[in-house]
Amino acid sequence: MSTMKMARRWSSFGTSIFTEMTQLAQQHQAVNLAQGFPDFPGPSEVLEQVAHETLHCHNQYAPAIGEAALRQAVSTLVHDKTGIQYCPNDEVTITTGATEAIYSVVNAFVNPGDRVIVFEPCYDSYAQAIANAGGILVPVRLHSPETPVGLAARGWSIDWSEFAAAVAGGFKLMILNSPHNPTGKIFSRSELEKLCESVRENDAVLMCDEVYEYLVYQNPEQVLSPVQLPGMRDYVVRISSCAKTFGFTGFKVGWVTASAELTRAVRLVHQAVVFCTNPATQRGLATMMSDFSWTKAYLSSLPEVYASKQEFLAENLVRAGFAVQRAQGSYFLMASYESHVQGGAMRDVDFAKLLIQEARVAAIPPSVFYYGSEAPKRLNWLRFAFCKTDLTLEKAAERLLNWTQSNGPRV
Ligand SMILES: Cc1ncc(COP(=O)(O)O)c(C=O)c1O
Repeated sequence: MSTMKMARRWSSFGTSIFTEMTQLAQQHQAVNLAQGFPDFPGPSEVLEQVAHETLHCHNQYAPAIGEAALRQAVSTLVHDKTGIQYCPNDEVTITTGATEAIYSVVNAFVNPGDRVIVFEPCYDSYAQAIANAGGILVPVRLHSPETPVGLAARGWSIDWSEFAAAVAGGFKLMILNSPHNPTGKIFSRSELEKLCESVRENDAVLMCDEVYEYLVYQNPEQVLSPVQLPGMRDYVVRISSCAKTFGFTGFKVGWVTASAELTRAVRLVHQAVVFCTNPATQRGLATMMSDFSWTKAYLSSLPEVYASKQEFLAENLVRAGFAVQRAQGSYFLMASYESHVQGGAMRDVDFAKLLIQEARVAAIPPSVFYYGSEAPKRLNWLRFAFCKTDLTLEKAAERLLNWTQSNGPRV
């Protein structure tokens, strides 16, 4: 199709970096630590229930707002996590993954010309949804750990004077992703308090993308959802999904919890975009999630499993000459390749390609996660996914070590 025919609002977006890196990784038979999906199956109990429902349920349109049993199970799970009670009928909506939830939430609240605060680097769906709503993405930078702001905060961090300047023009929606992709950052209570205060002052909506909520490697008591802060229930739209929670990125079942008023708006867009999500997967998930002791046991096993994968990869990246910023949450860690370029400059996209071609290991260059501003000139970091089998991680480690031993610094 001629690009002239394509709507202008899509013209700045190309093929997703995940597709591009995955294709290059396949071409070079690289170990793919680029795309964030587990290369091992999710819990068989869920698969069995989904298979059973596929054979036995009606397999016709599900209720637009989601199967009742799953809405109830989500309400129970979110209550357990946050202490906030959401009514399954009026305040819980089942979506086609968190991706559709993001699109529906942004398009439910953003008018053309409305300002949307986004912390960059950020997950790519936000920019696309904002562009389609005609909103203005107002970026607030998370400064990387080696910068003065990052050093002071000991990790990816906000410069609060930059934040004040960004919100000075007002905003309709703020998008917060914690645990954060790609940096692995978990926003602290004091950071959340400042952000929430600004949301309330602007009478805005806070979209909390919490898909990595169960992949947390610090004291869970210190990990808060903004909805838990006083007075925030009516401002927060909270998103999660079975992709990261149960390790089924292919199921595409997500959920949105919000006050009845905010939910009504989200449901209008959801109805227009997909109308409903497939019933068998929803019902299969609901059966297992309703078995609350099973769900709790499964979810509480995740941090230990993933922490040891992160540790293994981190140690080997360090041995291979990278400086590692371990994730506080999510299944991504960030590694600096500064020493491989001896303080010189090589764009992260070029370094990621070189790593695929020479070491045959694929990672994601974080400069692709900047949409509202230019990526920093020196962003000598790569994002590595550790949601992989031990075998995959061992293979990656071996290749990285061999590559480092046979190659000197680049610049
Ligand atoms: C921050 C974030 N939000 C949302 C999603 C998409 O979730 P889903 O697969 O449920 O659409 C992802 C997937 O990588 C993500 O990293």
